[in-house]
Amino acid sequence: MCGIVGYIGFRNATDVLIDGLRRLEYRGYDSAGVAVRTPAGLRVVKRSGKLAALESALKEEHLEGPLGIGHTRWATHGAPTDPNAHPHTTEDGRIAVIHNGIIENYLELKEALKARGHRFTSETDSEVLAHLIEEKYQGDLFQALKEALKEVRGAYAVVVAHEDHQEIVAARTVSPLVIGLGEGENFLASDVPALLPYTRRMVFLHDGDLARITREGVEVTDLQGNPLEREAVEIDWTLEAAEKGGFPHYMLKEIYEQPWVLENTLGGRLREEEGDVELGLGLDPMAIDRIHVIACGTAAYAGWYGKYLLEALARIPTEWDVASEYRYRDPVVDERTLAIAISQSGETIDTLEGLREAKRKGARTLGVINAKGSSITREVEDVLYIHAGPEIGVASTKAYMAMLAAMAMLAVHFGRRRGILSKEEAQRLLKEMRKLPRLVEEVLEKRPLIAHLAEKYHQAQDFLFLGRHVQAPTAYEGALKLKEISYIHAEAYPAGEMKHGPIALIDEHLPVVVLATKGPLYEKTLSNIQEVRARGGKVIAIATEGDMEIGKLAQDVFHVPEVHPLLAPMVSVVPLQLLAYEIAVLLGRDVDQPRNLAKSVTVE
Ligand code: AGP
Repeated sequence: MCGIVGYIGFRNATDVLIDGLRRLEYRGYDSAGVAVRTPAGLRVVKRSGKLAALESALKEEHLEGPLGIGHTRWATHGAPTDPNAHPHTTEDGRIAVIHNGIIENYLELKEALKARGHRFTSETDSEVLAHLIEEKYQGDLFQALKEALKEVRGAYAVVVAHEDHQEIVAARTVSPLVIGLGEGENFLASDVPALLPYTRRMVFLHDGDLARITREGVEVTDLQGNPLEREAVEIDWTLEAAEKGGFPHYMLKEIYEQPWVLENTLGGRLREEEGDVELGLGLDPMAIDRIHVIACGTAAYAGWYGKYLLEALARIPTEWDVASEYRYRDPVVDERTLAIAISQSGETIDTLEGLREAKRKGARTLGVINAKGSSITREVEDVLYIHAGPEIGVASTKAYMAMLAAMAMLAVHFGRRRGILSKEEAQRLLKEMRKLPRLVEEVLEKRPLIAHLAEKYHQAQDFLFLGRHVQAPTAYEGALKLKEISYIHAEAYPAGEMKHGPIALIDEHLPVVVLATKGPLYEKTLSNIQEVRARGGKVIAIATEGDMEIGKLAQDVFHVPEVHPLLAPMVSVVPLQLLAYEIAVLLGRDVDQPRNLAKSVTVE
């Protein structure tokens, strides 16, 4: 989710770049940099920290020139330091590259380039691109980019400038890039807001597109050099709407980002051929014999989900607890306990204090975190970043999705290394995980069906959410989403608990959302639905595509694509996120900043 800006024209590029990067500030970042083609050659200034650090550096090293590229980094590989900031340059400094996304095969490329004498100055995957382009360059910068990208696997938006060329070349696969068309000048950015002050005529590059941008115009081709027609569109968004990508709320934008987020989280970590994952963790999986998952709210439900998978796939006894309870219950911990702190912000004080309590008692520690460089990442031995990008909406959606994917990969990681999970079983699971981005996309396409359900049920005073096994956390997350943005009272229970009291709540006014996707406990869940129906309750079932039986029992059915039962929560949570969103909008709630809530609870 890095920010990218490029400019070529008659203005001072530095001013356009800084102004554009500032408009992308809401995307969050931990370092920033620019490369400008000046009379003295291609000059690069980059700094870790906020944009202000770069701006003060530019006051000393004033750069002036008609062509430049700029970048704000949301670190994925390598800490937020000056050398790791973009742009990355070749050793002679004549080529500068900025990149958003993940180069999956960067390690093998880097080794090969080093063997051919290239020297690297950063820990990033992106720097590989600069050296590859340098190798392929024989005078035509656009051709050099094409040749370089033929060796690259991954998700990228890449933008390149060269000391000797009055042009900018770029390419996109998965990570967005948009070109702004001016008169005698042209622009490039990762997101519309950076361009709105200068032009409203935009060309959105498609996946697989490459572009060559000069002052006079834009040429778009595919990787083989075949010309492509990309029409310019007139953007009539306000700046605020643009920062939401045209969505009315950040929350909805982030719900729709989930396929991209899953690509990013799973990205280059799945190794289907070996039936394994590559998480870059230092911890020896044989050095632990129990796991404590510590988190709050939505993150806690991701931890609960993780418990099921860690026990099913790696047979490691796993406890999960909300951090505010964990830290005061004098937990039984020793040096063979692994404490896993899950947190989007990495700043939640209860989670941080719960982690500290486990550390005091000798636990090993791991963070499953979104925000780079956050407090929790500085207090754990190892971090598994979830790469969800900045999450602005207070109600967590894409970060939850990324946490689920991270916990699933962690279970495979431990299961394979402890000899519990066979290569074949892992391959089957990883193959299913690879499908998730597309399956989530399919669910999102059915949003109108959810809007219809919201219309039907948005006046209910109470909701009940039920699920079993890995779908129990899904039920709790669905209830939390609804209550925190619509203010409707919503409770969740493991479906098997109904008969132990909650069933007294059932009547014809109480919508009951039941996670009833195909899996080992499907029949049991059907009986719970029958219990509810027998007492006049209205059941909204989340079921697996092709399941026509359930329609005889449930008032309403929303079908999700079939997937491995252990992965069903990733597709099932999406209709619940959308239901909460649609109901909250119908009730006129402040969806992105619900009352009483903060995005990160840093006070006790
Ligand atoms: C979820 O929608 C809420 N915003 C809240 O429960 C949140 O998940 C919780 O405060 C934990 O935040 P963290 O992931 O940043 O630690």
